[in-house]
Amino acid sequence: MRYVTQKGTKDILPSEIHNWQIAEQTFADVCHSFGYEEIRIPTFEQTDLFQRGVGDTTDVVTKEMYTFEDKGGRSITLRPEGTAGVVRSYIEKGMSSLPVPVRMFYNITAFRYEKMAKGRFREFHQFGLEAFGAKGPDIDAEIISVVDVFFRKMGLQNIALHINSIGCPNCRGEYTKLLKDYFRPHVASMCEDCQARFEKNPLRMIDCKVDGGKDIVKNAPRLIDYLCDDCKEHFEGLKARLEAIGISYTIDPNIVRGLDYYTRTVFEFVSENVGTQGTICGGGRYDGLVGTMEGPETPGIGFAMGVERLLLEAEAQGVLKEKPSYVKIYIASMSEAAKIEALKICYALRNAGIGCETDMAGRSFKAQMKYAGKQGIPYLAVIGDDELNSGEVKVKNMADGSETPVKLSGIGEFLAGN
Ligand code: HAM
Repeated sequence: MRYVTQKGTKDILPSEIHNWQIAEQTFADVCHSFGYEEIRIPTFEQTDLFQRGVGDTTDVVTKEMYTFEDKGGRSITLRPEGTAGVVRSYIEKGMSSLPVPVRMFYNITAFRYEKMAKGRFREFHQFGLEAFGAKGPDIDAEIISVVDVFFRKMGLQNIALHINSIGCPNCRGEYTKLLKDYFRPHVASMCEDCQARFEKNPLRMIDCKVDGGKDIVKNAPRLIDYLCDDCKEHFEGLKARLEAIGISYTIDPNIVRGLDYYTRTVFEFVSENVGTQGTICGGGRYDGLVGTMEGPETPGIGFAMGVERLLLEAEAQGVLKEKPSYVKIYIASMSEAAKIEALKICYALRNAGIGCETDMAGRSFKAQMKYAGKQGIPYLAVIGDDELNSGEVKVKNMADGSETPVKLSGIGEFLAGN
């Protein structure tokens, strides 16, 4: 039996991991610079958390969750996203008593049983953040700036920001009536999901993957034209802040987002390079979610970015980095006694924080040299009887071929200065 990766999953190999690590570190650094601190939440939660939090009419909950019964008879779900878990933690750990805004970021795996496509996996990674307790548009502009600064630090350019407002329960109530009147004569010809959505959550019909391209959906009334005064003011406030900071955006009335918790601001960063749907990062405000989850009424806002899509974009823009060389020197040995000396030197170098390698595979001297060359290790030292007797070795710079005599005990000092 030859075991292979499961559909929708992938190995991230040593040859590519450095770009993940760079992205992870850059995201953490940028979040820290805005005052966000990392939270780590569990991979699985009780199923009901997502049904209630994400919404039981969404595709994510109805079709895509990895749900199973554990040995204790509990219904468990692998997180399809991070927001519900962070909100659960915010409420459970009493974070509403902390000074606002409570700002947290995360770097998680998420699981959705989706059809495979470019940039679409069943296990994928998200960088995300959530901010609780701030209701004005300042924080909306702040989290969009986090993404903007992060993209810049990654060397990425021209990733289009689309924003929209989907209002609050007040304006949405009126709009939902209007939308139902609009769709009523057509609903029989629409897909099965839309027929169910018509009753339960007509707003979702705008977002339909089957009917979404049809004129009937494209010409539907748009929520942005029916916002209440408070929602309008909030949206105007966001636009003014983005303009003041210098972040360009497009208003896209068709963004409704695939999860039910959103209110007011929703946004996406999109690019053609990352697959059919093109969304690298999506987020928005969820002012009712903490209350819905039985926490104290608290406004919230956040986003998540697909890391696989981010790296597809980085590849397309040619900003992926070369693999760094962690090993600075190879210590080759010509005898058993030299090998012992090489082991001792390597131990000391590693304690000094200098990456080094010596033979572990019983290679001949010639094969050791070949190996070091192939690995692209920048420095080489060869220890034989002469070196053991003199206590001195020539350290060769592989790039220019120059050799420097160095004491066996002084290799670390030499490399630290080079
Ligand atoms: P989302 O739009 O469902 O939002 O996902 C955010 C991002 O995760 C997407 O834009 C995409 O880049 C990536 N993503 C989603 N599904 C997949 C997949 N199957 N394969 C690869 N990448 C994928 C959320 O998850 C919300 N929790 C965001 C949020 C946080 N809103 C407020 N706070």
